[in-house]
Amino acid sequence: MSGRALVVSNRRVFGLYGGRLGESLERAGVAWEAALLPDGERYKTMASVARIHDRLARARHDRGSAVVALGGGVIGDMAGFAAATYMRGIRLAQVPTTLLAQVDSSVGGKTGVNHPKGKNLIGAFHQPCVVLADMDTLISLPREEILCGVAEIIKYGCISSARFFGYLERHIARLVALDPAVTAEAVRVSCRTKAAVVGADEREVGLRAILNFGHTVGHALEAVTGYRRWRHGHAVAMGMAAAAILSQLKGALDIKQMDRVIGLIAAAGLPAGIPRGISERTLLAAMAHDKKVRAGKIRFALLEGLGTCRIRDDVTEKELREALRRCRI
Ligand code: NAD
Ligand code: GLY
Repeated sequence: MSGRALVVSNRRVFGLYGGRLGESLERAGVAWEAALLPDGERYKTMASVARIHDRLARARHDRGSAVVALGGGVIGDMAGFAAATYMRGIRLAQVPTTLLAQVDSSVGGKTGVNHPKGKNLIGAFHQPCVVLADMDTLISLPREEILCGVAEIIKYGCISSARFFGYLERHIARLVALDPAVTAEAVRVSCRTKAAVVGADEREVGLRAILNFGHTVGHALEAVTGYRRWRHGHAVAMGMAAAAILSQLKGALDIKQMDRVIGLIAAAGLPAGIPRGISERTLLAAMAHDKKVRAGKIRFALLEGLGTCRIRDDVTEKELREALRRCRI
């Protein structure tokens, strides 16, 4: 990269890794400044993106400039949206510092912000020109945040590779402990898988929806608890358990395979079932409002054996209720 860059981050992450990133940019001859946003999902708003636009405009950045996102998925999504919209699109570099961002959000070009009516409702597709995942930055990441990334890594095993799924079964404790070799392999396979899916269907016309495995029930769990009770990865973990049960009910996954999915989620230290306090009726209502609903039908990414996933819209309410009941802990 050359020319000028605006580094977008928050105080916490910039305090940890801003110096190192700045030195690399300077060594590459890039003149840079930083825009620091408040930390947290609740600041993933148009107001925060407007702050990035203001900085870009006031410093007279032009089409040769780049936005560099240093942080987790919240920073990456907002910086990406600012880059997608400033002067109708300037270059974006993603430097993800959470495991979730390294295996998921920094790859694939989805950018955006939340709206009071829904999560990630406003956004654009804008591919990064580079994604630089430095696994050393994960050392400072709290355990719960590591688990959020692990949930998405398990997702890739479920939807795309029985071999990778088996690898995760053998090494899950080492992955959660961020063993360098296992983490590197997990990040590599996850990025390769996501890039292949996005390469085939960037705009989510079809195939890309398999990346939502576990997310239909997961998003409903987040929505009915006001996005406060669970981190996204924990909700997705419960959603994957429910989706595995639903896949088994549809006759596409055998009981042994279903148990392996639920067993791997639990072995990672993630929740593999839905607590009894969450009402079935509220969950069903939340699912009916999901972005993935088409023509009134809820669409589910379901497994057809381990390592293969297909979008189905033939799940009946009876089957869904049964799966939710069997998923209770
Ligand atoms: P996050 O960005 O909120 O980061 C989690 C916390 O970790 C924050 O407090 C952050 O400041 C801190 N942090 C980041 N890096 C750190 C480090 N190295 N050491 C210590 N602390 C660090 O959360 P996330 O899980 O990275 O991302 C979640 C967001 O990603 C959601 O908004 C979700 O919608 C989005 N997302 C987007 C995509 C996509 O395709 N664009 C995919 C999945 C998720
Ligand atoms: N995280 C789902 C996607 O990028 O499509």
